[in-house]
Amino acid sequence: RLLAARRGDLAGRRVVVTAGGTREPIDPVRFIGNRSSGLQGYALAATAAARGAEVTLIAANTALADPAGVKVIRVETALEMREAVFEAAAHADAVVMAAAVADFRPAAPSESKIKKTDAEPEPIRLVKNPDILAELCARRREGGADAPGVIVGFAAETDDVLANGRAKLRRKGCDLLVVNQVGAGLGFGTPDNAATVLGADGSAVEVPRGPKEALADVVWDLVAARLPGRTA
Ligand code: CTP
Ligand code: CA
Repeated sequence: RLLAARRGDLAGRRVVVTAGGTREPIDPVRFIGNRSSGLQGYALAATAAARGAEVTLIAANTALADPAGVKVIRVETALEMREAVFEAAAHADAVVMAAAVADFRPAAPSESKIKKTDAEPEPIRLVKNPDILAELCARRREGGADAPGVIVGFAAETDDVLANGRAKLRRKGCDLLVVNQVGAGLGFGTPDNAATVLGADGSAVEVPRGPKEALADVVWDLVAARLPGRTA
């Protein structure tokens, strides 16, 4: 049975998982956010811990209980997540970026609550957030001494899902990209997921619709196979 082979196979490994969705402040009471529940990231953290890994979970705005035996760091914004990821990644064997990171943030969040007046509101000017995953991969390419051995991204795509996923994998420079098809009652807030895990080596592993824990175990199987220097 697969489970027996997996038990303890990540012992002695340090892994970092991001989960949830960042919130980018508009003013003290409002933000730009997204619908990520954090369920897939929490499932990844819990399964890695069950397989013996030392897990740091960087959670953005989730309403889920801390998985047992996992170190949880809570963040709000993309910039906070970036800080936390780079700090944790310096000691990690693998990083899995399951969080939905906001692509943009308000350029100048208001320090006081924006009040309604008779006039129409001012537009909110946005600036780009740093791409944490791409930056992590770029640092590794440049020979960063402590760079993680395996870096995994997530993507939700529509239209030509696999072609978009392949292009994104190349653009980011990660080892694996978990590509979800959005729609069909799957994805945000649901316990199930279906995905194709693309590898930089050209591989594609189809994961049929099932619990997010099942997809998580497949991801860790693929990560484990790519970890350099097994400690056996
Ligand atoms: N990601 C990240 N930092 C960002 C945006 C995304 O680290 N600022 C990570 C996500 O955590 C995910 C992967 O990159 O693992 C892909 O995210 P996605 O939003 O699909 O990619 P983008 O490059 O932002 O492309 P798109 O225009 O399709 O949103
Ligand atoms: Ca994006």
